[in-house]
Amino acid sequence: MGDNATCSGRRPRPPAPTPRARIPGPIAFFRVLRHSAIEGLALDHYEKPIVFTRTILGPVLVVSSPTALRHVLVANAANYPRETLQRRMISDGLGFGLLAAEGAQWRNQRKVLAPRFTPDRIAGLERGTAAVVARFVERWESLGDGATLRLNDEISDLAIDVLEAALFPDGLSGKAAIMPALKNYFRKAGRVSVLDALGLPERAPQIPRIPALLAMRSVATLRRLGAETVDAWRRRGGGTAGAGILDGMAAESRAASFTAVEIRDIVTTFMAAGTETSAGAMCWAFYLLSLDPEWRARIEEEVDREMPDGTYVEGSLPRLPVTRAVVEETLRLYPTVAVTARKAIAADTIDGRAVTPGTIIVISPWLIHRHRTLWTEPDLFDPGRFLPGARERIDRFAFLPFGAGPRICVGQGFAMQEMMIAVASIARRFRLEPAPGFDIWPRLNVTLQPSGELPTVLRRRGRNTPDDGSN
Ligand code: HEM
Repeated sequence: MGDNATCSGRRPRPPAPTPRARIPGPIAFFRVLRHSAIEGLALDHYEKPIVFTRTILGPVLVVSSPTALRHVLVANAANYPRETLQRRMISDGLGFGLLAAEGAQWRNQRKVLAPRFTPDRIAGLERGTAAVVARFVERWESLGDGATLRLNDEISDLAIDVLEAALFPDGLSGKAAIMPALKNYFRKAGRVSVLDALGLPERAPQIPRIPALLAMRSVATLRRLGAETVDAWRRRGGGTAGAGILDGMAAESRAASFTAVEIRDIVTTFMAAGTETSAGAMCWAFYLLSLDPEWRARIEEEVDREMPDGTYVEGSLPRLPVTRAVVEETLRLYPTVAVTARKAIAADTIDGRAVTPGTIIVISPWLIHRHRTLWTEPDLFDPGRFLPGARERIDRFAFLPFGAGPRICVGQGFAMQEMMIAVASIARRFRLEPAPGFDIWPRLNVTLQPSGELPTVLRRRGRNTPDDGSN
């Protein structure tokens, strides 16, 4: 059930499930949870700052008020570790890398890995990212005007190549097998089973989850490729000077205590967290531009001016405010991490409401970004909200595509740089048009992904600026 893309006034209304009139009962809730949790959201969720429900998973507080979000994610973050079932969904496949680790293990990993993502380091990765994107654009040029490609696969390949160049310069083993294994793992392991609903992950953590058993082959592939990547790096000398994650760990004495399995899990976690996320968002960005001739013209005008010879110019991100606004508006409408969950350890009060230990706190960027009290016309695509002058008025806790607090996305700066360079470079040279058979829908399986292969027609814009007559 839902709304396909329509137009409201001048702005497009891209596809999204229609809010339900009422919050679903336990059985209906379980069904939507199995399919895609955003389909179960009701008008109350979109209109009220906090919604309390008793579900089969226990008491649940869906929190969308900025003050409550600040409290859970920052002020009292220590009382709200990752919720057990969500942690199991991640750790079943990716082990205890940075995403699923908690306590001392998480602190140690974060201290070792965060220095790889300082603004200076990320700026140092700009050239490599731009080079990978430029190779992609040249390959697309060689396909010729009017070629049809499967956008989902193409952008996944781009994301994995960028990640490899930036964070695994010694190479990712079995690159072609990574994305299919990841997608299959998320699709299967991300489903909630009856035993999950009865709280088995918490009561019997030693028993494997059924969805994880179904994803076993993909998990084995991911673990093998993670381990092979570490082995290949060691065989090449395993240095400490490079920009990569493995060099970074080798250079840090704190990482000396990491076991081989933990290092493999860290690699596998980055393979997953650093690819599916930005790839999904980039697919949405091109689709949204195809719906809106006005914003497509504005981004084309910007990239034609800032990329006169047709390729990305290093250091030009600050001069691409329209591109940034398009990427941020895309992340508002389709935040790849559309839901995350925490569990209260001790009794607490959130926005004046008593919280008992064990209460699940649902934080849904999807919901927060479309909340009627936080945004004007929240379902419409309007990058103008993120242009300088308007952007500063957005509450820090009304826009959370990368989360907030100690567990904020460590790859945020890297992801923004990658997405901006790719969107700008591709918009400079092509218009992407949905081809016959194109059918897009937001589907939440651990991450929010555009469903389908997204057959897309490439329309070449030419390499030179429009007024030189070569387009
Ligand atoms: C559009 C792209 C991305 C989005 C929307 C995104 C979103 C997020 C969010 C919301 C979280 C916090 C989850 C929570 O609080 O439960 C997170 C954590 C994380 N992200 Fe990202 N991410 C993106 C790209 C990346 C990239 C490119 C990398 C790696 C290069 C990355 C690595 C991670 C890791 C390792 C964590 C766990 C951090 C921790 O718990 O300390 N992400 N991401």
